Amino acid sequence: MKILILGGSGMLGSECKEVLGRRHEIITPDRESLNIVSWDQVIDRLQQISPEIVLNCAGFTDVDASEEEDFAVRKINVEGPRNLAQGAARFGSKLIHISSDYVFDGQKTLPQPYFEDDLVRPLSAYAKSKAESETAVRENSPDYIILRTGWLYSRGGSNFIKAILSAALKLRNSALKVVDDQFGSPTWTYRVAHQIEALLNRGGRGTYHATSEGFCSKFEWAAFVVEKLGLKVPVEPCKTEDFPTPARRPVNSILENRLLKKQGINVMRDWKEDLNEFLDLYGEDLIKEASRD
Ligand SMILES: NC(=O)c1ccc[n+]([C@@H]2O[C@H](COP(=O)([O-])OP(=O)(O)OC[C@H]3O[C@@H](n4cnc5c(N)ncnc54)[C@H](OP(=O)(O)O)[C@@H]3O)[C@@H](O)[C@H]2O)c1
Repeated sequence: MKILILGGSGMLGSECKEVLGRRHEIITPDRESLNIVSWDQVIDRLQQISPEIVLNCAGFTDVDASEEEDFAVRKINVEGPRNLAQGAARFGSKLIHISSDYVFDGQKTLPQPYFEDDLVRPLSAYAKSKAESETAVRENSPDYIILRTGWLYSRGGSNFIKAILSAALKLRNSALKVVDDQFGSPTWTYRVAHQIEALLNRGGRGTYHATSEGFCSKFEWAAFVVEKLGLKVPVEPCKTEDFPTPARRPVNSILENRLLKKQGINVMRDWKEDLNEFLDLYGEDLIKEASRD
């Protein structure tokens, strides 16, 4: 299949380029040659490329900065997907759009997970834009997949694991404090890319959840990484209110991959299993990289 990937320089987009590129023809224009907020560019390039699949991994993803950048967030996270949905509809492409666990308010009693058809109630500007992006896709594209994921990590890009390593290596005689009151499922971009391929093979349609199986707190996630990599740094739990951030985050970000399971195509693995494999592969490189920060 011919797949046009937007956001190909990002964490998930670059992984999809690599994984899907093994069996498909991939086209990944950079932001200069295809800015998703430009209707003209979207239409011109879709007409020219004529992809069977448009995979939108582009987005304004800085959750805290989104509180101050409302205009840019709405342009990139809502108008961009709307342009892609209308363009995909016009040229007969299927649109796969990536959304987020943050569309939910996280008020469900732990450890109850969110299902695909639960009501969205975003808590932050970023989350609101992702919820609106979903509506834009549903209203404008007859053939779409909305894939909600969360707590992504990968070898490239900036993410929680890299931030934890960089903070841990800077500490001298003090503990690394990490919040133990936000729960979710650390999810490897590599596995999400494989899940997207499974959805393509199955001809999936509609809204899906795709995060790792199982869940943990951010404190447990950080402690797992520090212990696995043998860093001699104590990790201590703290509360979200101890480290206030501009954007509110859901307490419960646990998603159930219910539709993937119902259709027999869930390839997502337990979060510890994937994180173990990821750290076996890249742990040493990540430590070297963090020690240069
Ligand atoms: N990270 C997470 O934990 C997480 C969790 C849930 C959902 N998601 C969703 O997953 C998707 C991918 O996230 P990510 O973390 O992989 O993103 P990322 O690493 O921040 O990359 C974002 C990508 O979007 C591109 N981009 C930004 N504005 C654009 C525009 N106007 N036109 C074209 N391209 C543009 C960027 O290009 P440049 O390199 O040129 O800036 C970059 O390639 C996003 O939709 C995000 O909301 C992420």
